[in-house]
Amino acid sequence: MRYEKIISPSLGSSKGRIPEPHEAVHLDRLGTACFKSFSATHTGSGNRIWTGTGGDGERLFLKQLLGRPAEERLLSAMAFEEYVSQLGDIDIAPRHLGSDAENSALLFEALPDVHDGRALADASEFWESHAHAAGLLTRRLHSLEGAGATLPTQPAAPVALALREVFEGVPEQIYTDASGAEVESWRVVQRDHALAGAITELFASSRPVPRVPTHGALRLEHMLFREQSVHFTDWTEFGLADPARDIARSVSEFLLRAVRKTRVCGEDDSTGASIERVLRELEYLRPLVVAFWRAYLGGRVDPDLIHRSVAHSGVYLLESVLFGVEGRELLHRADRAALTLGRVLVITPSAFANKIGLESVE
Ligand SMILES: Nc1ncnc2c1ncn2[C@@H]1O[C@H](COP(=O)(O)OP(=O)(O)OP(=O)(O)O)[C@@H](O)[C@H]1O
Ligand SMILES: [Mg+2]
Repeated sequence: MRYEKIISPSLGSSKGRIPEPHEAVHLDRLGTACFKSFSATHTGSGNRIWTGTGGDGERLFLKQLLGRPAEERLLSAMAFEEYVSQLGDIDIAPRHLGSDAENSALLFEALPDVHDGRALADASEFWESHAHAAGLLTRRLHSLEGAGATLPTQPAAPVALALREVFEGVPEQIYTDASGAEVESWRVVQRDHALAGAITELFASSRPVPRVPTHGALRLEHMLFREQSVHFTDWTEFGLADPARDIARSVSEFLLRAVRKTRVCGEDDSTGASIERVLRELEYLRPLVVAFWRAYLGGRVDPDLIHRSVAHSGVYLLESVLFGVEGRELLHRADRAALTLGRVLVITPSAFANKIGLESVE
């Protein structure tokens, strides 16, 4: 039997040769017998992706989840596919063609001629029209009907849990294994009771909000654009949550881009100066946030949603440093700026809503 020789994903390394699709997954379970041609790659999160054409010339995008609890992410992605299949043809994501749960693999139609939002932004070609389309699709997602009780619920953001741990004392082993930059970032937040209190309050204020279907990882690279149309991809963190979480995730992408630009100039500080610098850099990107936000709101007014979205985007900035500096020796100026800005967004969201583009539309 050919498939008895399948390489177990848990044994697969994220480096080295990538097996051929048929060596790694049960292609017949995925609804395709073969790949006529393909190219393979490891992604940023260590997954395997094969793109190519099937036997009948169909375009295929095969992804095998590896590493960080693949089962959980697969369940979320499959919950999404099941959910949308009940809703009919809603054209919100690439068409799902099949799954091989045993090997944590998902097969999709590969969308032709798409550019993901990260590539567009890197090339300075992410326009307001893209932001507008993404805002509209987010709104459509959040207003999808029939969110059944079977949908997974988004866990609290990991930063909230990590902060609790940092406050209560990091376990010795984790401390010993931590890099210089990690320890330094913990030191910045550790005695910050105002921040810890504001995060607790933020999650408490999110709790009673009616939960909606959320993408969970609405980063620019998960927005696939073709001309004026957009699809969202990578639904491995799909689940019911406060809509502010998705808004915050995409807004924080622009904030992080502005933060990164502060790397090259100015003195290193943890005061208002670094916030001002980030906001100056954000000037160029703010119209994109505004376009996304206006399209999302579609004329509605929701001050509570604004505040929660600003504060949650602060949480994402904190998360990007607390979880992004693993293995690094030093905390950079941009990391400190992200921590400083993240903190004030969480603690005083109303003072920053307009500045970051989440304006109140009257
Ligand atoms: N169906 C599709 N058709 C065309 N391109 C796609 C499709 N799905 C995803 N992509 C592209 O492949 C990239 C990686 O896909 P995906 O995010 O699902 O994998 P991943 O393992 O999470 O990768 P990463 O760690 O980079 O997020 C996406 O950012 C997008 O640019
Ligand atoms: Mg992804």
